[in-house]
This record gives sequence, structure tokens and C-alpha cells, in this order.
Amino acid sequence: MSDPKSDTLTEAQLAVHWKEESYYYPPASFIAQANMTDGGILERFGEKNFPECYKEYADLLTWYKYWEKTLDTSNPPFWKWFVGGELNASYNCVDRHLAENRNKTAIHFVPEPENEHIQHITYQELWVRVNEFAALLRDFCGLKRGDRVTLHLPMTAELPITMLACARLGVIHSQVFSGFSGQACGERVADSGSRVLITADSYYRSGILLDHKKLADIAFDKAKEEKVVLEKVLVWQRHPGKYSAQTPLVQGRDFVVNDLLPKYRGQRVEPERMKATDPLFLMYTSGSTGRPKACQHSTGGYLSYVAGTSRIIQDIHPTDVYWCMADIGWITGHSYIVYGPLALGASTVMYEGVPNYPDAGRPWRIAEELGVNIFHTSPTAIRALRRAGPDEPKKYHYHFKHMTTVGEPIEPEVWRWYYNVVGKGEAAIVDTWWQTENGGFLCSTIPALAPMKPGSAGPGVPGIYPIVYDDDGKEVPAGAGKAGNICIRNPWPGLMQTIWGDPDRMTAVYFERYCKNKKSKDWHDWPYFAGDGAVHAADGYFRILGRIDDVINVAGHRLGTKEIESAALTVPEVAEAAVVAVPDEIKGRVPELYVSLKPGVTGDEALARRISKAIETEISPIARPRKVWIVPDMPKTRSGKIMRRVLGALSTGGNAGDITTLANPDVVEKIRDLVSRG
Ligand code: WTA
Repeated sequence: MSDPKSDTLTEAQLAVHWKEESYYYPPASFIAQANMTDGGILERFGEKNFPECYKEYADLLTWYKYWEKTLDTSNPPFWKWFVGGELNASYNCVDRHLAENRNKTAIHFVPEPENEHIQHITYQELWVRVNEFAALLRDFCGLKRGDRVTLHLPMTAELPITMLACARLGVIHSQVFSGFSGQACGERVADSGSRVLITADSYYRSGILLDHKKLADIAFDKAKEEKVVLEKVLVWQRHPGKYSAQTPLVQGRDFVVNDLLPKYRGQRVEPERMKATDPLFLMYTSGSTGRPKACQHSTGGYLSYVAGTSRIIQDIHPTDVYWCMADIGWITGHSYIVYGPLALGASTVMYEGVPNYPDAGRPWRIAEELGVNIFHTSPTAIRALRRAGPDEPKKYHYHFKHMTTVGEPIEPEVWRWYYNVVGKGEAAIVDTWWQTENGGFLCSTIPALAPMKPGSAGPGVPGIYPIVYDDDGKEVPAGAGKAGNICIRNPWPGLMQTIWGDPDRMTAVYFERYCKNKKSKDWHDWPYFAGDGAVHAADGYFRILGRIDDVINVAGHRLGTKEIESAALTVPEVAEAAVVAVPDEIKGRVPELYVSLKPGVTGDEALARRISKAIETEISPIARPRKVWIVPDMPKTRSGKIMRRVLGALSTGGNAGDITTLANPDVVEKIRDLVSRG
């Protein structure tokens, strides 16, 4: 494990050298139409009104039964929100909009091939398709409330339709990012105990129709190895009526959804009355140890939180055309492509492919064509579009009123290109900091009420009280110019309920670090530890520095160093593996891998390639190391701990610091030599 203390110190030294950026003010045209222009919100969501303030979010939803208790803290840190309340997420995102907006577009699905029609799916059509698919899941698969189902679906309209059909039945969906390997999917099938896997035959990426179904076969085998046997694999066709994967269907196990659906035409499924505290979905994410963990999100708390923040921070009105370019396979897509925007009755855009296909003008053509006025993406996408087509946005006649950046720290220069060129100086920008575990935004400015500061997320959003602690648990006050560990002092409705099947891990990872009294039932004693370094400026804005634990944020994708290292260790020649994160112009950070080999084995380029390939197969191409260094030995402490900090310094050409305490200081020079020769 890397030493968080030394990492934090390095970031802190950096931070004090940063210059404060000046403010940008939201345009008057934005303020004139914004959902939230009442500064009283800060008072309403202030600590003295906590937790009742969150009624304002919950009231955006339609409840079958109103809740009796807003927050139950009797079993810390497993907070319960809106206890006694009953609702259904599918009803809230679909049915309730029919009365007034039946014919309005709910989802604009943009296929990657530009000659294929954009599908405009109305709320009426969404309702029909969700009902029919829910009937199929219920009657053909026998799925019911509380069951888990794994989805490994690409970015087509069938993905939100599947999620909403599950939610209608109270089935807990667990969508695995389609770019993840079959193995990674199978592990998640097993961990969640899914009986059914829902996938697709194929999808387009960078102009190629990928065979996606083959990953389901691998997932099936992997899950079986872990003693979970899938009963059924449902396959959606990318081109309805035509099976377009090379991999054949397995008789009796694989079923084409499009063939089965006609039997369910016209069927309607009454939404289940779910308890607010019933789980809505699982979302896997990487942590500092071992296997990915599933964050379990609730129905009432989660949906209230994403509806509230979509309204206040994303400024979504029912009349807006909103485009979040993330993948629904990540939490951003769940909260801010599907559940938040649809709960508010907006039109949400989904795009199948890569942003710069076939060229860097694509996103701006889509925006122009659909009249997108709210745009949401990541620094990695912004950097890539800026490099490939810095002047492209000017060529298109779209107008954004609002833009979001999420997922990684954004460099002020990149922020300014986003503001001036993409936003044409007309849009308010929010830099939203949050995590898979959180359900929704934690830090951001309220766009009409606070100025923007490039590179800084902003203060806590309403109802979130962040604090920066040093390693000894002392508060680092605002304006101290020092970095520390950002925590949230209070519970909030979007926070996951637990880690599926492993509640102790929830307590250990997120709460133990700064909990003052484990017996206490008072939430004040249980700050949430986010695992990010941050600087709290004098104006109350937080600048997020990145992970302090063993997680690497590659292009906004969270990867555990342990996961990558275990994948490398599946190659029989590898004795030890250590991953470090190095800066990358486009992706923010990328992994580099150091390996030492078993005695008697010699390494060459072919072995390095095999190791890279193993990582792609076990996890995903996004985890592929930029470089695999085969080294004679790892730098180690006398207790045998690999010093990743030293390797990181060698990879970045930085100062390795004091190495005299290492058990094998000589190896450092040898590795430096190797790395400098490239
Ligand atoms: C990082 C994504 C800087 C952070 C929603 C966090 C950010 C991790 C920002 C969570 C931001 C997210 N500025 N860093 N605006 N947003 N991060 O779980 O390190 O995929 O801990 O959730 O991304 O990534 P996750």
C-alpha cells in the first residue's frame, strides 16, 4: 500500500504554489431563467434545519405513502432516509409524466453511425417499452422484488429501458460498464448473486460493430467458477430483427429479447410499491483493497437526492434538452442521464459512441441537431476534443445555457477553453465533485448564485457540510493553504446504504478513519471519509486534488491498483507487480506497471505484451498500462513492503526522496537506469 501521508504532503506542497484563479460570473441570461435564484436555500439547508431540509428534495417525487421519519440514525453508519415512505422509481421517471407530457421526447438516442436515424422516444413509448419488458422479466424470467440482475449493456436506449423495467418490479439492477471484460462482468454476476444476465449482441464503437455477446459467454463461465450459475442470458439486438454478433447463441440459455417481446405486446405491469429504504440498484466501484465492491443505493433517498440536485445544480427544467456524455455504466450516467433528468420529466440524450467519431465536430453537430442546451462531460473528453478540434465548436449553431464537468480535477486552461469555446461564453459551468458511493453531487457551485472558479469544485452543495482533516484528525481551516483529507460531516439521502454483502467494509473504508466514538448514535461522530485530497480556500471553495488511497483515476474511470496488480499476477512468470499513476495529457492519469519475475525467468517485450493483455482481459482495455517495466527487484522497506512512492518518482522523473531506509537501495539506480533508457 502506498503511504497516504507522503502522498498528501506532496500534493500539499503543490497546492500552496497554486495561484488563486479569478472568478467568472454566471451570465444574466442564465440567471434570468434558473431554477434556483433564492439565496435563502443555503439557510434552508443549513445545519439547524438538518435533516428536515431534505423534504424539499423528496417533495419533487410522487409517493404512494409519505414517510414518517426523515432520518433514522439508530444504526451508524447505516443511515435510513424517509423511513415509512413508499414509492416506485419507474413510476416517478415515466408514468407520472404521461398526463402532461405523453408526447414529449424522454430519450433521444443517437447511434454512432451518422447515417443511422436518431431515435426520439416519447414518454408514451418509454412507458410502453418499459411495461412490456417488465412483463417479460416477470413472466419469462420469474424475476421479482429483491432479486438481482446483472446488466452488461452498451449505450443504447435498451439500457435505460431495462433499468426502469427492473425498477418497476423492484428488481435490483447492477449495470456493469460495457467496456469491462467478460471476466469482470462474471465476477460481478457472482458477487451480486444474479440469476439473469442482460446483454446485447453488438454495438458501435469508433466505427466498428463490436461482438459484445462473446463477453456474456466468458461472464457465464467466470460466474460458474465462483459457483453462481446463470439461468438465463437475455440478448437485446442492436439492429432489431437481426442478430449481429459472430458468437452463436447457447440453446436453452441465451434468448433474444426482440424475439420474445411480441408475446408481451400491450402488457402493463403495476409498479411495485417499494419502501424508500429498499435498494434500487448496485454499482460496482474500485477501492483500495481487493475486489470491486458494490455500492447499494436506496430507492427513496437516492431518487430524491438526484432529482433535487438535477434541479438545483444541473438547472434542469422539463423543457430542457439535456445531454450528459458519460456512460450509463458509471454512476454519473445512472444519476444524471437516467434517474435525475427523467424524474424531472426532461429530455435526456444518450450517445452510443466515442465523442470524436468520426471527427471532433460530432458532439457539436449532435448538440445543434437536437437543440441541446445543457451539456455535461468529463475533463478527459474536454481535453481530447480540445486537442483534436480546438476550433470545431465555433462552426456549429448550438447554445448551451449550462455545462458540467465531472470525474477528475480540471486544469484551469482546459476549463477556460470549455467556457470560452465550447460554451461560447454564454453558459454557466459547474464543476461537480462526488463519487459512486455518494449517489449525487457533494461539492459544486449553485450555478445562478455563486461565481465559478476554474479548477475548483466549489463549496458543499445544499445540505452537505464538507470538512478537511489532517492525518491526525484536526481540521485544516479554510484558507490555510494546506491539503488534507476531505470528509463530509453529515449523512445525506444519496449516500449508499451499504456495500452489498459486506457491511463491515462500509464502516471500515468510509467511517473508521475519523469516527470519534464507535458507540455513538449521533451522526456528528461519523464523518464520511471520501479518500480524496483537497484544499479548502478562504472563500469556502474546495479544490479536489485526487485520490489519496490506492485508486487510480484514469480518464475518470476508477481503477484499483490492487485489481491491476492481481491481473498482472495471473501471468505465471510474474512474481510481484506494482502499479503507479503517472500524469497524462489527455487522460489525467494512467497506470504504469512494474513487475519482477520468478527466479530463472527472463523478460522480453513479448512477456510485457502478455502482461498487458492479461490486464485487458481481466479488467478492461481502460486499465492497460502505458508501460510495463520488467525490473530485477522491487524497492522494498525492511518489512518487505513495496515502495510505490519510489517507483512513482522514477516513472515521473521526480525525486525518489530518502531511500536509505530501504532494504535494497541499490535497485533504485538500476530501475532508474532502465526507465531512462525507455
Ligand atoms: C474524482 C464519479 C476532481 C475523485 C462521479 C473521486 C473528481 C472520484 C471530481 C470518484 C471533480 C470526481 N474534481 N475530482 N469534479 N469528480 N472526482 O466513483 O477522485 O467514478 O473520488 O464517481 O473521481 O469517481 P467515481
